[in-house]
Amino acid sequence: MEIYVKTIDIIKAKADAVAVGVFEGEKKPAGDLAAIDKAFDGAVAGLMRRGEIKGKAGEVNYIHSLGRIAAGGVLIAGLGKKKELTADKIRSAAAVACRSLISKKNKSVAINTLAAGSSVKIEDAARAITEGAILGVYNFRVHKSKKDGNNNTELKKLTLAGVGRGDTKKAKRACEEGKITAEAACLARDMVNQPSNHMTPADMAEIAKKVAEDNCLELTIFEKEDMQKMEMGALLGVDQGSCQPPKFIILKYMGGGGKDIELALVGKGITFDSGGISLKPSNKMEEMKTDMAGGASVIAAISAIARLKLAINVVAIVPAVENLPGGKAFKPGDVLKAMNGKTIEIISTDAEGRLILADALCYANKLKAKRIVDVATLTGACVVALGYITTGVMGNNQKLIDGILAAGKETGEYMWQLPMFEEYKELNKSDVADIKNAGSGGAGTISAGQFLSEFVGKTFWAHLDIAGTSYSSKESGYTRKGATGVPVRSLVSLAAALSKKK
Ligand code: BES
Ligand code: ZN
Ligand code: ZN
Repeated sequence: MEIYVKTIDIIKAKADAVAVGVFEGEKKPAGDLAAIDKAFDGAVAGLMRRGEIKGKAGEVNYIHSLGRIAAGGVLIAGLGKKKELTADKIRSAAAVACRSLISKKNKSVAINTLAAGSSVKIEDAARAITEGAILGVYNFRVHKSKKDGNNNTELKKLTLAGVGRGDTKKAKRACEEGKITAEAACLARDMVNQPSNHMTPADMAEIAKKVAEDNCLELTIFEKEDMQKMEMGALLGVDQGSCQPPKFIILKYMGGGGKDIELALVGKGITFDSGGISLKPSNKMEEMKTDMAGGASVIAAISAIARLKLAINVVAIVPAVENLPGGKAFKPGDVLKAMNGKTIEIISTDAEGRLILADALCYANKLKAKRIVDVATLTGACVVALGYITTGVMGNNQKLIDGILAAGKETGEYMWQLPMFEEYKELNKSDVADIKNAGSGGAGTISAGQFLSEFVGKTFWAHLDIAGTSYSSKESGYTRKGATGVPVRSLVSLAAALSKKK
């Protein structure tokens, strides 16, 4: 999608269609909508009077322009109440507007800033519109043999119209940044939406290779023998039951100067989670192709961090493995030894994410990363606690956690911190090994977080449980059915904030 920023009037915009906003509770058309209303001889005001146009968030009304303005049609997007407008609401409105317009075969769209008269800054609106448009029209049709059909119109050109001359530079920069982050979120979506026979550990490594080549990143892939040499016994335990060779993927971006890694992003890369010998029920098991969403998100995030040329040194680490119950599979009762020498009693082979992360966290520590943020579809308990709306956040350093929470606020990716009181450590006590891999006594998300904390040492660390937020079974705003791309935009925002603080 090509994106332009222009000062031109929306009624003069030469596009297939234009999109403008309307606030809830407004009695008559204002701003650009007033100009359109005038060209339409008061028809818009009439629709507002009759209550057909209410301005509620998510509402869209389409009017054919029949030559009264330069564009072929006008879409009027509801924005909710003016006082309650946020960048995230603009992001959603832009997504709904663009989706609705491409369903009517419009390939080029001019949209105004949707923020006129509100407290949202022009650059935040510009970024939100760009992200909303890209995320909102995203489609995953790779495995559909019919390439034509109604869902297949592409939005080729988006013009942000009506930007004041003094704001053009800021708005352009924000659109460029928004495009990069939204495209990264779409890369993560593409990886997560792929079925596991098309997204094996080797496939993930191939994508990492492409990301490295495109962005001049340093790439290292450890093979099974390397993992054996490094004594990554927890990761290798999970790998035993599968025929797919495991890959340990490392991408490095050194934009900050010097040699120190300021941020390590570690992502769970289970390309399919059958549960292993502790087999999952077959109902919805197909959704476990998404168990590599954490890994996808850190690969995508580092690609955006590099494209944005952020002044920070970042490494992305993805242990990529399949969890299957093959003849050599690890079993409940087995004891594994992680890279840091800690022994783990296996209670459930379905609590495999924390095992591969244990070794990946040890490795991040070996690199002497200053901060570690891990991302994982880790526990069903997180879905019970926070549903599909909010990511669970835990960690050992409040400043880093606050940084993540702030990034979530900025991007509209909801996050909520869960407690990590010492007493929760009890839940992971084992009679036969140093620790067990499945806690007893509730708090499943926190006990998983506590388990991970055993492998980070004293390094500042935050853990994001995206079991509920990485995948959506319904469409709303800029969220499409399937992979959401959460928390790519927050990771990029965190890296940007850390790079500015230096
Ligand atoms: N991949 C799952 C967690 C998950 C559940 C992700 C639902 C997305 C949606 C994870 O590996 C798992 O199975 N966890 C177990 C842990 C338990 C055995 C301690 C769980 O949550 O049931
Ligand atoms: Zn599992
Ligand atoms: Zn899993």
